[in-house]
Amino acid sequence: MRAIVMREFGGPDVLRLEDVPEPGPRGGHMLVDVTLAGVNYADVHARGDSYLAPVELPYVPGNEVVGTVDGGRRVVGLCRGGGYAERTLLHRRVTWDVPDAVSDEQAVALALQGNSAWHLLFTSLRITEGETVVVPAAAGGVGSLAVQLAARAGARVIGLAGSAEKRKLAQELGAHAVVDSTADDLTERILDAAGGPVEAALEMTGGATFARTLAAVAPRGRLAVYGFAGGDLASVPTRDLMEKSLTVSGFWLPQLYADRTALPTSMKALFDAVEDGSLTPLTGAVHPLGDAARAHRELAARTGTGKLALDVTR
Ligand SMILES: NC(=O)c1ccc[n+]([C@@H]2O[C@H](COP(=O)([O-])OP(=O)(O)OC[C@H]3O[C@@H](n4cnc5c(N)ncnc54)[C@H](OP(=O)(O)O)[C@@H]3O)[C@@H](O)[C@H]2O)c1
Repeated sequence: MRAIVMREFGGPDVLRLEDVPEPGPRGGHMLVDVTLAGVNYADVHARGDSYLAPVELPYVPGNEVVGTVDGGRRVVGLCRGGGYAERTLLHRRVTWDVPDAVSDEQAVALALQGNSAWHLLFTSLRITEGETVVVPAAAGGVGSLAVQLAARAGARVIGLAGSAEKRKLAQELGAHAVVDSTADDLTERILDAAGGPVEAALEMTGGATFARTLAAVAPRGRLAVYGFAGGDLASVPTRDLMEKSLTVSGFWLPQLYADRTALPTSMKALFDAVEDGSLTPLTGAVHPLGDAARAHRELAARTGTGKLALDVTR
């Protein structure tokens, strides 16, 4: 079968198309004929050897796919590597039938990024109606879904995004106000946009952006950290936490893979929301499998919007 194989860590060019053997049978898993492989920021970290769970070489990247089993049943599922391939193994616990009303492109946007957005908002931050929440990369994969889910729950969303085009998109998705994510005076801009400190914030850039976002959180507020796209892991200033009675929590989706209720609950809520029209996954560029390097370049360049995917049939 064709697959993208990484034989070394490095830039996008280490992602090469090869012919490799199909994965053999494994207890609890099903073999899926992949249609689309989702591209996530986690894959950029895996390629650069900075992912939370170190990967061993040679490595086939890709943590989610949509595809078919039993000669046609459409499924979407999560995996730990192996997704950028014509066939992959999905564990039954993290694989779901795709409803007819949900397209392949929408389903692949929901598996990793949708479930992450849902649990960040409703499990980690526990946002409630009327609260103000900061959502970074508000036109990106996780962010575009988080904006919609938070707005739908009655929260006021302050969307951060790196270009005027992305900020416009975030507003169309339901953000009440938008802020340039690259601004040095990010704290002041969030405070201006929100009309004061915010009750809750998501943070996925790290470094100075973490500190600037935390500084905009109100006393007794919450911040959930789930990434470090900028490359610098931030340190938490515990003095500030005490002084303002702040709660900072961490989030990593794979911690929910073995939980029997968490992901089934969020996956059903996400499918239902797409079916009733209250959630529209923002589909992005779909490249042929062999163009994985191009997809990674786009993700790192911050130019794209919505869900990036690889068409494994091309
Ligand atoms: N912990 C978890 O379980 C989990 C799960 C899913 C995703 N994540 C994390 O969530 C974040 C978003 O992931 P995603 O897959 O949905 O990607 P994405 O948002 O579609 O794309 C990444 C976005 O991050 C923003 N960004 C900020 N600083 C950046 C930098 N220095 N380099 C590149 N991009 C930067 C950019 O948006 P702007 O230009 O608009 O700022 C960029 O478009 C990543 O940090 C990822 O690791 C974590």
